[in-house]
Amino acid sequence: MCGIVGIVGRSQVAPLIVDALKRLEYRGYDSAGVATIERGELGRRRAEGKLINLERRLKDEPLDGTIGIGHTRWATHGVPNETNAHPHFSKGVAIVHNGIIENFAELRDELTRDGYSFASQTDTEVVAHLVARELAKGLKPVEAAHHALTRLHGAFALAIMFTGDEDLIVGARNGPPLAVGHGEGEMFLGSDAIALAPFTNAVTYLEDGDWAVVRRNGVTIYDIDGNKVDRKRQQSLSTSFMVDKGNRRHFMEKEIHEQPEVISHTLAHYVDFVSGKSKPLDLPFDFARIGRLALSACGTAYLAGLISKYWFERYARLPVDIDVASEFRYREMPLSANDAAFFISQSGETADTLASLRYCRKAGMKIGAVVNVRESTMARESDVVLPTLAGPEIGVASTKAFTCQLSVLAALAVRAGVARGIISPDQEKQLVRELSEAPRFATQVLKLDEQIERISRELSRYKDVLYLGRDTNFPLAMEGALKLKEISYIHAEGYAGGELKHGPIALIDENMPVIVIAPHDRIFEKTVSNMQEVAARGGKIILITDKKGAAQAGIKTMETIILPEVPEIIAPIIYALPIQMLAYFTAVFMGTDVDQPRNLAKSVTVE
Ligand code: F6R
Repeated sequence: MCGIVGIVGRSQVAPLIVDALKRLEYRGYDSAGVATIERGELGRRRAEGKLINLERRLKDEPLDGTIGIGHTRWATHGVPNETNAHPHFSKGVAIVHNGIIENFAELRDELTRDGYSFASQTDTEVVAHLVARELAKGLKPVEAAHHALTRLHGAFALAIMFTGDEDLIVGARNGPPLAVGHGEGEMFLGSDAIALAPFTNAVTYLEDGDWAVVRRNGVTIYDIDGNKVDRKRQQSLSTSFMVDKGNRRHFMEKEIHEQPEVISHTLAHYVDFVSGKSKPLDLPFDFARIGRLALSACGTAYLAGLISKYWFERYARLPVDIDVASEFRYREMPLSANDAAFFISQSGETADTLASLRYCRKAGMKIGAVVNVRESTMARESDVVLPTLAGPEIGVASTKAFTCQLSVLAALAVRAGVARGIISPDQEKQLVRELSEAPRFATQVLKLDEQIERISRELSRYKDVLYLGRDTNFPLAMEGALKLKEISYIHAEGYAGGELKHGPIALIDENMPVIVIAPHDRIFEKTVSNMQEVAARGGKIILITDKKGAAQAGIKTMETIILPEVPEIIAPIIYALPIQMLAYFTAVFMGTDVDQPRNLAKSVTVE
């Protein structure tokens, strides 16, 4: 949600800021802006819509200056237009903000009474005026910023710049991430290390409550009480390589096709394909000694967690409690310090998931973070980082991160089963061998793209789609529906096959295709009954199954997608691919913005 950048530089900074914003565009893309100071004067260019509009604007009207801040926005307060785009100004102060100032209404009333007028509908503008008011009282910029920060409630990452000091940006963090980048005679601020990767990979992450005085010759970091604090300087793992689409039309397409490779990297991190054993892992708890595992996540990551509940309970007899993170800490479930909790997140920054993590930390639980960004806040705040090795995921709709999350969780379920004496060494070997086959099967499934593209052309003509599945294919049905609606804007629902007759069956007619995810497994027969129920009501079925399933279904389908026969443990990983491809091609036929669908953002750092 919103990306921010600041540079106290040696050369013209506006082009550098735009370069950094390109790497942050995944955080929001409904407007963008840059401000610089040149000989004591603030200059600003902003544009509604994608970053390309700002680039065009800057081409026509360049901005000079060796100090500047920039922003790419995902609107929370105020519609996405140029007036609401950041940076916001007030009397010699310029500011960019990621997050939400919860007490903005109260502050706005107070500032209005003091004669400050508001140009935008944003919560951010109050911060600019607050700082300006402190300056007007005679405070120096650093003190003014500090005083203003003490008045703010909510979640924020901020960069503040002052016409009175062209060697200063004040950064502050309370919630959303903020990294300081160290250069030679120049310094940087950015929402993440990837944004700063072309300039430096020496970074310091601010912690919650920290604020930083960033000058060309270095940074000093303080806590909210104004005490100096030491924060580690580290080498970022991000490379300056600007992720590109290769010869693919969209990042999503490229990321779908990367899956055989990244699943293989991820699995190889956890299991030894040669010995058939789990690799050593420094877990802060013993799977054999915990009574329960709590899982929490949002969106697609939550659905990965839901699939893993079946695995942990099936292969390790380990009870799992799972909630969407926005519910987790409000439903007052009993937590025990003897149990462990895993938080699943591509970005490692999702506000609700992070809040759940902290909630479990307070309860004394041992914390594991299944994250794709190893330097993320969740990674830093967990007892053990359980990385997915998917590489940067740029498409807003998660694909390869999802199958890598599944890979990590499947490998952990096997490990838990061994630790708890449920799985014998021979069974472990067998399961590891089965996991090792996932990349090969994934490669085979990707070759079905022509058929899936043809089906998607048909699917794009409908307004509603129902997905059905049982067992691990039930969460996968929900994932299929989520993927389709978020990128094609076609309404879709995912249901457990057995639930069909308890309500959704009323929707079935020739206008609603039903996508049934049904490998030939031990409950295949039950799913066939559900398909009969659909067929009997004139419903159109798209069946995703294997050869045996196709032979035994005995039902007229609109289309059948036949996947290789795969072992049960990897079925959700392999069946995720046609689900993603269907959503992708359908969105392409609908002509939507596949990589940056409307109203969404890649990293949701507000609750
Ligand atoms: C859907 C999607 C989202 C994310 C969710 C959590 O395709 O990508 O539902 O899964 O916003 O994000 P992370 O995994 O970064 O916590």
